[in-house]
Amino acid sequence: MSKIVDLIAGARPNFMKIAPIIRELESRQQEGQKISYRLVHTGQHYDHNMSASFFEQLGIPQPQVNLDVGSGSQAEQTSAIMQGYEKILFQKPSQFCLVVGDVTSTMACAITAQKMGVPVGHVEGGIRSGDRGMPEEINRIATDVISSYFFTTSETANLNLFKLGVSKERIFFVGNTMIDTLLANEEKFAKPVLWNQLGLSEKNYFVITLHRPNNVDQTDGFFRILNAIAEGVRGLPVIFPVHPRSAKSIKELGSIPPVFVMVEPQPYLEFNFLVKHAKAVITDSGGITEEATVMGVPCMTMRDSTERPETITIGTNELIGTDPDALKPFLDKLFAGDWEKGGIPEKWDGRAGKRIVDQLEQILCN
Ligand code: UD1
Repeated sequence: MSKIVDLIAGARPNFMKIAPIIRELESRQQEGQKISYRLVHTGQHYDHNMSASFFEQLGIPQPQVNLDVGSGSQAEQTSAIMQGYEKILFQKPSQFCLVVGDVTSTMACAITAQKMGVPVGHVEGGIRSGDRGMPEEINRIATDVISSYFFTTSETANLNLFKLGVSKERIFFVGNTMIDTLLANEEKFAKPVLWNQLGLSEKNYFVITLHRPNNVDQTDGFFRILNAIAEGVRGLPVIFPVHPRSAKSIKELGSIPPVFVMVEPQPYLEFNFLVKHAKAVITDSGGITEEATVMGVPCMTMRDSTERPETITIGTNELIGTDPDALKPFLDKLFAGDWEKGGIPEKWDGRAGKRIVDQLEQILCN
């Protein structure tokens, strides 16, 4: 009998991580493999720009289940996802639950599945920022403590899991599914309309993304960061795809320096076109530091910690901190042409999805 694997996706950074796993499962199904999947969208992100556009561009099929939880506090979202997913598992149990990343949907579904006796695999398990002030860190810790299997992106993640007491038989160092998606789509990156409208040219503009509560929820601090960026970019335009959380603070601020070109959250292919050709990226995202590393684009992270240290030790990323004054020396280094070139972390080679499905076959079919 066919085994069902639930694939959980809820928020923007999940969609690129599940796409290569779906592709691999589908291609093996055609070869007669006995694992089918059920795609569960929790509805944590629901705007077209934050969700549907990724499904369209990455060729992800329509979810079989949509929990439609929508916005809410951390506890509201967590409980709505748990109640919704528990009902689905009661109606039709699955044999495995695969969660990705560190968003609220990841943790909520992992706990629900494991309590219902469904083993959980955590894709991107084991990474840690050490900062428990971030909801994502709590989600990572909670998910890893209860998961049965771990599909990891780095040796650092493996070590963190060993420290947690996880036995090595349950850890599979597979690489990075987000990079699978990046490499599979690089040829299709699309020049956004604003490129010609603004007369952009290669390496003559910046891209920024800021949406962490620590950086954007307090308007004073957010304004100081924006001012420091505006002062440091030597008049180059700064393309700023504005996340809904940051849009709220910008509305309160009234206006921001004119060097920023505020645009809607970009679709995947347009966003990565912009990153690939940018002089540098300034961000507080984790995933973007990985993509910038693989594309060899200088990246400055406006955070005090990172759960992805290999983007710094091997890649093009630098940890700036959250004090806006710290930016200047890094921008000076960039404009002096002294940014380190960087390399590609081990197994970030476009084949993580294949390795994950190989292991799922071992776990479920043997
Ligand atoms: C979530 C993830 C974060 C990830 C980010 C990417 C958690 C804890 N955080 O943070 O790890 O980097 O997504 O975007 O899971 N909103 C909309 N439309 C949407 C989605 C959200 O307007 O489609 C609004 C919400 O109403 C809320 C704000 O945006 O006011 C923030 O959304 P939320 O899901 O709470 O978390 P993010 O900050 O997006």
